[in-house]
Amino acid sequence: MKILVIGGGGREHALVWKLAQSPRATQMWCAPGNAGIAGETVAANGSAVECVGIGAEDLPALLEFAREQQIDLTVVGPDNPLAMGIVDQFQAAGLRVWGPTQQAAQFESSKIFSQEFMDRNGVPTMKSASFTAAAEARAFAASLDGKCAVKADGLALGKGVLICNTPDEANAAIDQIMTDRAFGDAGSSVLIQELITGMEVSLHALCDGKTAKLFPSSQDHKRALDGDQGLNTGGMGTYSPVPFLSDEKLNEIANAVLEPWLAGCAAEGIDFRGMLYPGIMLTDDGLKVLEFNARFGDPETQVYLPRLENDLVDLFEASIDGTLDQHELRWSDQSAVCVVIASGGYPGSYEKGKVITGIADADALPGVKVFHAGTKLDDGNVVNAGGRVLGVTALGQGLQAARDLAYEAAAKIQFEGAFTRSDIAAKAL
Ligand code: GLY
Repeated sequence: MKILVIGGGGREHALVWKLAQSPRATQMWCAPGNAGIAGETVAANGSAVECVGIGAEDLPALLEFAREQQIDLTVVGPDNPLAMGIVDQFQAAGLRVWGPTQQAAQFESSKIFSQEFMDRNGVPTMKSASFTAAAEARAFAASLDGKCAVKADGLALGKGVLICNTPDEANAAIDQIMTDRAFGDAGSSVLIQELITGMEVSLHALCDGKTAKLFPSSQDHKRALDGDQGLNTGGMGTYSPVPFLSDEKLNEIANAVLEPWLAGCAAEGIDFRGMLYPGIMLTDDGLKVLEFNARFGDPETQVYLPRLENDLVDLFEASIDGTLDQHELRWSDQSAVCVVIASGGYPGSYEKGKVITGIADADALPGVKVFHAGTKLDDGNVVNAGGRVLGVTALGQGLQAARDLAYEAAAKIQFEGAFTRSDIAAKAL
């Protein structure tokens, strides 16, 4: 089977690495990929995974490439091509593709669509309202005493969410998004949600239009610095499973979210085939869904796939074909921890092109896999090319062992300005 993976971050490296282990994979490409993906080989025949210089949002070029190469299965990693309708376009061209359609991807691409769906269908969530007029938005924010999240409706490269604690902050956020259009057209309407406090957990469920298969629990670390301080990032590290959530509790939480979500999809004619990734908050007042994503989390994927024992090609095919009910997900009982190594200055500006050393030494430790996120090859050297550079993932018998190993491996990797958080998974121990 010829497989094309779209995207070029840590999530896509993990997807390529796992798909390449399938006995069914014979040839693989990744567009655009990265230095780590270019080093992977297909297990069945040792052929190299080829990185293709096509951006994840260049839909016409991706379509042409998939047609020319007669790709049997295309797997879409990031949210933007999904929001742009890549799945609909590939399907219309008779190509097999994994991911939600443009309509189903609205769970992520429109925060207002998602929030109104939750309100209509009894998915537990926060008090919220959406606005196209700034004055009304300000009045609603004032009714929450300014303690709210102001979100640009559309996709804004993960940046369109402003957290406010006072009416002045809320008014400034509304102006920034709606009047100044800091996030472009994504801010033509805003969603305002009450702020809630609690423990944030990531859920993932693989869906086929009628069945949702729950993944184990995991937790991301969104802030740049230890102790959940500093600016929000794309995610500085993850671990799985989350020990304070028993399987029973996880199922209870999942049912409270997935049952009304599936029933709502059926009632409203939404055929979601892909990965549903709800971000949830466990509060004193019960669980609340903060948001839905319509793809694998990054870096959650980097801890899930090393623990997954199924053939991922089989699961993606079942998700496309509506036969997930015939599959049981099987997971290693080992824990996984992923520590992200970032470029100095991230999530602000940072320098690129710094030579990275020690990746092979880290990868050589048993139980360790270094996933590349923002890297490229430059004159034979691997250099940093993004804010999140590497995701050092370790498996261990128990979280402590996995965490110790991940940090031991990360310490072997160096480049100028590199930094990690030192407390990934610490709050679980
Ligand atoms: N883990 C954060 C994200 O994937 O959006």
